[in-house]
Amino acid sequence: MKAKYVALVTGGTGFTGSRLIEKLVADDWSVHAIVRPNSDLALLEKNIKQIKLHVHDGSTSDLVKIVADAKPDVVFHLAALVLAQHAPKDVEALLQSNLVFSTQLAEAMVENGVGNMVNTGTFWQHYENREYAPTCLYAATKQAFEAVLQYYVDVKSLTVITLKLFDSYGSDDPRQKLFTMLRNAGKATQPLLMSPGEQLIDLVHIDDVVEAFVVAARHLLGGGVNGHQCYAVSSGNPLPLKEVVRTYEKVTGVKLPIQWGGRPYREREVMLPWNQGTLLPDWRPRISLIEGIKTIIK
Ligand SMILES: NC(=O)c1ccc[n+]([C@@H]2O[C@H](COP(=O)([O-])OP(=O)(O)OC[C@H]3O[C@@H](n4cnc5c(N)ncnc54)[C@H](OP(=O)(O)O)[C@@H]3O)[C@@H](O)[C@H]2O)c1
Repeated sequence: MKAKYVALVTGGTGFTGSRLIEKLVADDWSVHAIVRPNSDLALLEKNIKQIKLHVHDGSTSDLVKIVADAKPDVVFHLAALVLAQHAPKDVEALLQSNLVFSTQLAEAMVENGVGNMVNTGTFWQHYENREYAPTCLYAATKQAFEAVLQYYVDVKSLTVITLKLFDSYGSDDPRQKLFTMLRNAGKATQPLLMSPGEQLIDLVHIDDVVEAFVVAARHLLGGGVNGHQCYAVSSGNPLPLKEVVRTYEKVTGVKLPIQWGGRPYREREVMLPWNQGTLLPDWRPRISLIEGIKTIIK
């Protein structure tokens, strides 16, 4: 029997990827991570000694060598440039991270006979609950990679589960997301200008998100996955932004200086998150919003 499964993780220096690596190490996986020459390794600090880092020079040939060295049972592909709104200067970087690097990875996998990938999508690919309607260019690049993957699945027998993530949150989140803004607002003297706040938000705690990646890997390793399957990693209980903030105030006991309607909704604001996806089999979120908020204010 195989002693350990081997994971190759992209995006390991990010919020979700670093937590996934922590979980894989704790579950006794042998973990390899791909980083860039200038990656900030701060979030990986805790596990850096237990994993093998590969610094990718940007070329396909280097990625082929990295995959050959790691020989992973599962590739967890989380690397992405995440931009809710972009400017003309961002176009190349978006395509480089979300399409070129991703395609290089798929190519390197088939070149080495590595067949299992957990890919990461976003509910932003499904504006107004449509089959495909990107809320932003970033979401369009995610969709573009799924289209590329179809080639590797149909012609090169890659097996893929794409997890469509919603809004994640958790302790020590360096990203400028909702709870970081709320925490800062609690210390600020100026009011925090927010949209009217009627949009629904589907929040999933990072521990539940990470568990979804592990469950998806288990499905792939179990051999029951054919081709490319897409699943939602949803709380199943989206709440209006105003209610999320009220819950945060209740748990923290701090009334926040928020000016609702102080700024307009953003272009293509998602008022109703995608609810047409199939939930990942054998996975359910376990951490309630109240319990989740407690983990971030500790
Ligand atoms: N978090 C959410 O709420 C959410 C919602 C929907 C979907 N997602 C998806 O979940 C995944 C993780 O998101 P996150 O919020 O954890 O991201 P994050 O914290 O912004 O981290 C992004 C990661 O991607 C890496 N990366 C970017 N471009 C790369 C490239 N060209 N080559 C190699 N690595 C590259 C970054 O590495 P460097 O350190 O080198 O910059 C970093 O490790 C992404 O695929 C994102 O699209 C997240």
